[in-house]
Amino acid sequence: MSFSSRRRNYHLVPHRKDELIGWMKSMLIHSFVLDALESTAGDTFSHFEQLINEHLHKSKSQDPPDNGSASQVSRLKQIVPTVGTFHTPLPLRKAFEVYNTKYAITKRKHICISFNEIRHILNLAQIMAFVEEGRRMRGLSMSYNEDEVEECMNNDNDDFHGPKLVTFDGDQTLYSDGANFESNSELAHYIYLLLLNGVYVAVVTAAGYEYMTEKYEMRLSGLLSYFKKQKLAEIKDCCNRFYLFGGECNFLLQLGCDYKLHAVKEHGVGGWKSSTRYLPETPSNWPEDDITALLDIVEESLTHSISDLKLRARILRKKRAIGLIPIKLNDQLPREGLDEVVLRIQTTLTSKDNANNINHLPFCAFNGGNDVFIDVGNKRVGVQILQSFCDIKVEETLHIGDQFLKSAGNDRAARDVCPCVWIINPDETTYILKNILRLAGVISHNDEETIQNADIDGDGGCEKKGASGNSSVTIGSNVNNTSMDIDEMARRSSLTEKMIRL
Ligand code: IMP
Ligand code: MG
Repeated sequence: MSFSSRRRNYHLVPHRKDELIGWMKSMLIHSFVLDALESTAGDTFSHFEQLINEHLHKSKSQDPPDNGSASQVSRLKQIVPTVGTFHTPLPLRKAFEVYNTKYAITKRKHICISFNEIRHILNLAQIMAFVEEGRRMRGLSMSYNEDEVEECMNNDNDDFHGPKLVTFDGDQTLYSDGANFESNSELAHYIYLLLLNGVYVAVVTAAGYEYMTEKYEMRLSGLLSYFKKQKLAEIKDCCNRFYLFGGECNFLLQLGCDYKLHAVKEHGVGGWKSSTRYLPETPSNWPEDDITALLDIVEESLTHSISDLKLRARILRKKRAIGLIPIKLNDQLPREGLDEVVLRIQTTLTSKDNANNINHLPFCAFNGGNDVFIDVGNKRVGVQILQSFCDIKVEETLHIGDQFLKSAGNDRAARDVCPCVWIINPDETTYILKNILRLAGVISHNDEETIQNADIDGDGGCEKKGASGNSSVTIGSNVNNTSMDIDEMARRSSLTEKMIRL
């Protein structure tokens, strides 16, 4: 191989890093080395907050792009060129202070703040941002004094001070990679509470089985039977607010009152494809020939990679996706090999000729842990269609997923169209939902203990906040503490951290 082609293909920047978090960490290391974190870390987080705000405003600005001139490019973009889109301000200083009160990061002399700690703080800031927005709308201050919390709790209107649409990735977010949602009643209960409080919930998963509804139902079996146990269908419209988008954005299903998933009508009045035709990237605007061309290019590249990299893998071609999967179900494919395959495909599909041939169809190539999939479409399109279909604004949406690395993550695309939370396992998802519900005033600390220890599998349920409540469960309604609970953070993050190179 010639030197120039090596240079062309070699990834000079390690591809399993998040540059924004890496940069934040490097900013904090200076103070750590000087043993000055105690007095400066808060200001450093304020500085991040300001840069993100400026970036947010620049990207929202109506001015036409000016060939990337300095005035159009935010300072943050100049420092971290790969930085994604933000949709809300992030109260990072406040999130840091809450986190630091619990974990005493600034007291440490030997161990600097880690990648995962910064990820946690960003996540806390994102969910706090939803509540702050609600408070701003109601003219309340940003400090959470007890009287105001009480006022918020006694507020009998139907406002839920949190996201109005929560979209979840499937694998590794709701259940472990390749597994099904079996019994996880705490997570199921929090999702149930979201529905009860008027929130739209959607699983936006790469897994695509066309409209074979029973396959999706099997993957969500524990969640659906939890809904059934709680008699979700008896509460008006709750089931209808639960969706599943299979194949990233290809197959839309909705929960019926029979606790089964049903294909949503695609065409005609009210059809999801017809009514979202105005979105340039939506599937109804994809020419069938371009889809075939894309899948052909990918199949050729995968076939070559399997022999070139000596992978014990085979190809699985579907209607809107191609996968590279192990020949034997339980064989483990090397992560480096899978990443190489993903990067080769991305290079191939974005090369000028190919991109023109497939008319820049949206696609998603990612390493799914023990497979590689290339889907036509991506989660940006999936979330955007749901926002349009359910009439929810960008800044009222939250996507929760585990794959946000720029190089090989399939949740990253959702960042373009909504605020996101980056978790690494279903336990962290549970923790995030718990805090959303606490900050929104739906559950209290006491409720959590009830949920964790008591009979939520039985004939229980939880009353909708402010509603007369025809559900049966008894979870205390004396909510007097809506502050963050970060007690379980370390336990919940545990082993899966090895998935991310720090
Ligand atoms: P997600 O994390 O919920 O987006 O699911 C990703 C996983 O779904 C992949 O790693 C695959 O194991 C599985 N999968 C099954 N069918 C498909 C498909 O058609 N496209 C992409 N992934 C698929
Ligand atoms: Mg996933």
